[in-house]
Order: sequence, then C-alpha cells, then structure tokens
Amino acid sequence: MTEPNHRILVVDDDRALAELLRRILTKEGFDVTVSHNGEDAIQRTMQTNYALALLDVMLPGMDGYTVCRRLRQNPTTQYLPILMLTAKGDIADKIAGFEVGADDYLTKPFQPKDLVYRVRSLIARSQNVIPGDSVETEQGRVIAVFGSKGGVGKTTIATNLAVALRQRSEKRVALLDADFFFGDVGVHLNLPAVRTVYDLIKHPGDWDTEIAEQTLIPHPSGIRVLLSPFRPEDGEQVTVGHIEKIVKFLARHYDFVVIDCQPSYGNRMLKVMELSTDVLMVVTPEVGPLKNTSLFLDWVAELGYSVEKVNIVLNRYNSNVGIGAEEIERTLEHQVTFRVMSGGRPVVMSVNRGVPLVIEEPEHPFSTQILQIADFYIDRATSSLPSTMLRSTRNRRTPPGA
Ligand SMILES: Nc1ncnc2c1ncn2[C@@H]1O[C@H](COP(=O)(O)OP(=O)(O)OP(=O)(O)O)[C@@H](O)[C@H]1O
Ligand SMILES: [Mg+2]
Repeated sequence: MTEPNHRILVVDDDRALAELLRRILTKEGFDVTVSHNGEDAIQRTMQTNYALALLDVMLPGMDGYTVCRRLRQNPTTQYLPILMLTAKGDIADKIAGFEVGADDYLTKPFQPKDLVYRVRSLIARSQNVIPGDSVETEQGRVIAVFGSKGGVGKTTIATNLAVALRQRSEKRVALLDADFFFGDVGVHLNLPAVRTVYDLIKHPGDWDTEIAEQTLIPHPSGIRVLLSPFRPEDGEQVTVGHIEKIVKFLARHYDFVVIDCQPSYGNRMLKVMELSTDVLMVVTPEVGPLKNTSLFLDWVAELGYSVEKVNIVLNRYNSNVGIGAEEIERTLEHQVTFRVMSGGRPVVMSVNRGVPLVIEEPEHPFSTQILQIADFYIDRATSSLPSTMLRSTRNRRTPPGA
C-alpha cells in the first residue's frame, strides 16, 4: 500500500488568503504548496502528485474554470480532486464549476471547519476512485442477472430480486438496467425515464453521492434505479469504459447492485461479467436456452473467470415441458441452485401494473422463492466467503419452494 498522500495544491492569487489556507490545512497535517496563477498550477500538477487542488475561480490570466477543464483533459490529472473556491455564491457559478469537472465548491467567506471537512471527504472519496489505487475499500455485492436468450425472465427476476434484497437486508440496493437498447426495468417498476444512464455518462468530471442521488431514480420500495437510455441511439454511446465506471461507481455507493443484462455476448456484457461478484444465470427448461447456457459456462471458463460465481436459476421450472432439473444439471454439468415457479397470471399482472410481486404478494410461492435467492446473496455478503456451493452437483441445495 502506498503512503497516504497529504499534498494539497492551493491556487489563489490573493496572497493573504492563500497564506490563510496554507495555515488552516497545515494545522490539519496537510503538506501545502501555494501557486498564484493557473499556468504555474498546471505545471506543478505535472511534476507532483497532489491529493487535491484547491482552485480559486478568479485568477489572473487563465481563470479557475479553464484550469479545471485543462486538468480534466489531461490523463495525469483527470482524477485529481478539485475543490473550487469563489466569492460568487450563485447557482449558475456552481453549475459552471461542476460543468468543467470540479468535484465540490466552497464560497468565500468560508468556515475553516467547512473547508477542512470538504477537503477530507473529497480526498477520502477519490482514494476509492483512482484506478489502480491499492487502498482497500468496502465494495457492494454486484449481481449480474444474465440469460442467454431474450424473454427467459431476467427483468422479472432482477426487479423482484432487487426489491427482495432491500426488504430482507434494509441495505442500500441499486438496480442497473444494462439492456441499453431495449431495457424495460422502468416498465416493470412503473418508473418514468426522466434520468437515465445517458445523463450519467454525459456528466463531466467525477461522479459523487450527489450525482448518484440525482441520476438514480428512487422506487417506493427503497431501492434506487439507474434506467437504460430512453432512445436506442443513446444506448449506442455507452462504451465498455462507461460500463466499468458505472459498475464501480454503484458498487462504491450501494451494498447490493443488481444488473439486468442484455442477452448478448458482446464486449459490454463481458465487462459486466468481469466486474460482477455474482452472476445469476436465468434459464428456462427449453432445449435452446439450455444449450446456450452450457456454451456460456464453457465460455466463462475459457475466459478465465470463476465458474464458481455463476449460479443458475431455473425459471418457470414447473412449466410442463418434460425436462427435469436433474436432466438439466446433467446437460449443463452445473448445479441448478434455484428454481422459480411459473407464477402465471399474478406475475404477468404485476409486471403489467409495474409493481413487483414480492411487494404485492410476498406470500406467493414465486415471491418466497425470490426472497430465498435474496437471502442467499445476503448471506454471502455477510459471510464474505467464497462460494463452495457449486463444487458438486450431488451436494445440491434444496431449491426454494421445492
Ligand atoms: N416465473 C415467471 N412466472 C410467470 N411469468 C413470468 C415468469 N418469468 C417471466 N415471466 C413473464 O415472461 C415475460 C418475459 O419476462 P422478462 O421480461 O422478465 O424476460 P427477459 O429475459 O427480461 O426478456 P428480454 O430478453 O426481452 O429483456 C414477462 O411477461 C414476464 O411477466
Ligand atoms: Mg428484460
């Protein structure tokens, strides 16, 4: 682990104020360097690794906004926490600062305590963001709900599971609709797509708690939902890099992150798999999905990912199609961990109404089966033990509701 970085760059042409800032921060144990103009400040950030830059807006020559934008454009400083300092207190200035990538904003005159609090919290937060940083952080459990074919019940299970995780654990739960083209989590939960993944990826600079609050839509169950872009062409713009940033961001802010995946083996879903702690593979008792799931498991192994993190849920297991769970396990050479019944009309009606069945009818067998899946992941999260459940197909856990 690297030494904690306590270096702060104060950029202010007002020498008296710069001196005051130095004194306050030095007293708090920071190592403060003062710069009086933008060009000099940028040069210094190229030479020294600072934990934070405190940037005055009104600077001679290059103003603070320009300095901020330039720092964000440079790969060396793109993640440098920036706290803007200004005499102006109106909202337009605040927005202008955020638009060029500032992380936070402090208005003069300020309380030393407020300054120190903001500096400390920005640094703490950034140490979770900087790629390659070795600081250990609490990460939420990321559960990707995947299916090798459309229509197997991914969204129905993902939405009910997210709500169930919240009901059972009362922890922070986020649901990400990663079907960036035809995502319908909003429909399943009756949420309007007022803000989506698209707003998040278009947001310049670092994402913080405030951004999470703004972009993830609150659902009455207490979960927060990041919807897929409203228009498919906006979905096109979500890159693998964005996905990495989004999933890591959500995992930092939520205890559980449920991801409703697209039925695709493209690079974007590959990235989701890689970043997930668990993959819940939805399969229906039909020959097509079974064959695809078998290929998927081979593929996971070939890519070097742990097959152990994949759990299979057999959805609509009681649809009378003549393929039993044992036969399915033989075909897949993998244990079926969960079974979810075909909930018939109540499930379809709940999807149509936009209210998950675990809310409407928690006693329904479909709901109790989902709640048991939630308990399984809550259990994993609290024990933090690696999965041992999948090693042997003979050592099968009794499927929920069986
Ligand atoms: N266990 C179940 N019992 C009853 N109906 C179900 C069940 N699972 C899914 N369905 C129904 O099947 C339909 C398809 O489900 P869902 O939208 O969840 O599938 P999906 O895998 O997300 O599809 P897509 O690939 O199109 O996103 C929905 O109408 C849903 O209500
Ligand atoms: Mg779906």
